Amino acid sequence: MKINKICCIGAGYVGGPTMAVIAKMNPNIQVTIVDINPERIAAWNDEDLSKLPVYEPGLADIVAETRGKNLFFSTEIDKGIDEAEMIFISVNTPTKTYGKGKGMAADLKYVELCARNIADVAKSDKIVVEKSTLPVRTAQAIKSILHNVGGDVNFQILSNPEFLAEGTAVEDLLKPDRVLIGGESEGAIESLAKIYGSWVPDNQILRTNVWSSELSKLTANAFLAQRISSINAISELCEHTEADVTEVARAIGMDSRIGPKFLNASIGFGGSCFQKDILNLVYIARSYNLQAVADYWEQVIILNDHQKRRFSDKMISTLYNTVSGKKIGMLGWAFKKDTNDTRESAAIYVTDHLLNEQAEVAVYDPKVRKSQMYTDLNYLNTRSEEENEALMTVHNDPYEALKDTHAIAIMTEWDEFKSYDWQKIYDIMKKPAFIFDGRNILDKKEMNKIGFEYSSIGK
Ligand code: NAD
Ligand code: UDX
Repeated sequence: MKINKICCIGAGYVGGPTMAVIAKMNPNIQVTIVDINPERIAAWNDEDLSKLPVYEPGLADIVAETRGKNLFFSTEIDKGIDEAEMIFISVNTPTKTYGKGKGMAADLKYVELCARNIADVAKSDKIVVEKSTLPVRTAQAIKSILHNVGGDVNFQILSNPEFLAEGTAVEDLLKPDRVLIGGESEGAIESLAKIYGSWVPDNQILRTNVWSSELSKLTANAFLAQRISSINAISELCEHTEADVTEVARAIGMDSRIGPKFLNASIGFGGSCFQKDILNLVYIARSYNLQAVADYWEQVIILNDHQKRRFSDKMISTLYNTVSGKKIGMLGWAFKKDTNDTRESAAIYVTDHLLNEQAEVAVYDPKVRKSQMYTDLNYLNTRSEEENEALMTVHNDPYEALKDTHAIAIMTEWDEFKSYDWQKIYDIMKKPAFIFDGRNILDKKEMNKIGFEYSSIGK
């Protein structure tokens, strides 16, 4: 099928950047991104590009280049669906918070709503592309909803999971390691392959069956997260044996079978994907009664929770077993650098733990809004909103946040933290001045020379 118009349902961290790049690389295709959230659409349409709802390096330039030409953001979902030959479903698939599978399974209600919406509106043949990360065999459910609408509209369903990482979304989209397309119909697969073919070499466009494609996405995230939990497990051992986790990571990473990437020990992985997707994998394995498989992958999450917890426990024990009434400066709230996304960020859990111990936490993050930080903390429901506001303060200036603190926790690896005037920071802190570097970004010798009590992960 020749594709002239694409509609993407879901203007989030994936839908926005992915469609912007598709529009840039295919100037002859009209791409419309639709969403039920009018504020989000208004932000994507904002004249002021610094107000785009997703911060990603390079994204604003692409939006500026394509918006109003062949890239459009709209709340008119039905119109978008009706006009397009190809429809991407890129809505959120969070962990279920209710009912069967609560806390484990992916909540597919938004995906199902999209399928029903397409079924209601479509008057001509459509290729429906699963862009959201979905449990293996979801395409079956989508197919069943679409094929039961009656009429003679023909639907083809493809799985095209997205592998971009936040903070490097544009770069990852422009130079993907691979694009994965799973489907039954060769014609539909090639229609989508042609769109990516505008900039991705054909040998990097993999064609598989739908189920392999769906399962590959969950598996890729599980493998990546497993590497982080593996190195984090070793980091704790390093702290007891005088081994240095950075040296160990370098030594093993030079083995070409292991490779150097994704071996940075940390406060634990965050982000909207790893935990959700592994929990989902565990849930699926259990639903087939594969207990050993489920237990194996669940351990990746257990270790990650342990890593976050032991970071805050270590802070408390080092600060003479009490942080009550002490001011703790927190550098970074985003789950990684170069993004304003905070979903599952370790900073939220570490702050919550410190507040339980009656610490006062002062936060600075270069991209995350104050309101988002309070929303994240309030969502945990540990204490009242008023208490959270009284105990946690948010600052626009890092030096102001760090003034009179007993300790600093580095939660995100923002580059700017490295170039701060650490002597000045030392001078404005209470003594002894402690740094807990959850990202191993500062130099221990330098920090010790200034006078800091410095500790990092796995050293
Ligand atoms: P997001 O929450 O940022 O965006 C989803 C958007 O979908 C929201 O704006 C929401 O309003 C909209 N939406 C929900 N239901 C809708 C409906 N019925 N009609 C119209 N709009 C609707 O989520 P995201 O981070 O972009 O993730 C989307 C999917 O992509 C998820 O399945 C996720 O697992 C997957 N994924 C995410 C990443 C990532 O880095 N964030 C990477 C790869 C894959
Ligand atoms: C991840 C996958 O990388 C991406 O392919 C998928 O499409 C979505 O999920 P994302 O969550 O955006 O991407 O970022 P990623 O770079 O994978 O980082 C996830 C978390 O792991 C972050 O908190 C990061 O700080 C942490 N991390 C990453 C480590 O602690 N150590 C590492 O070595 C790498």
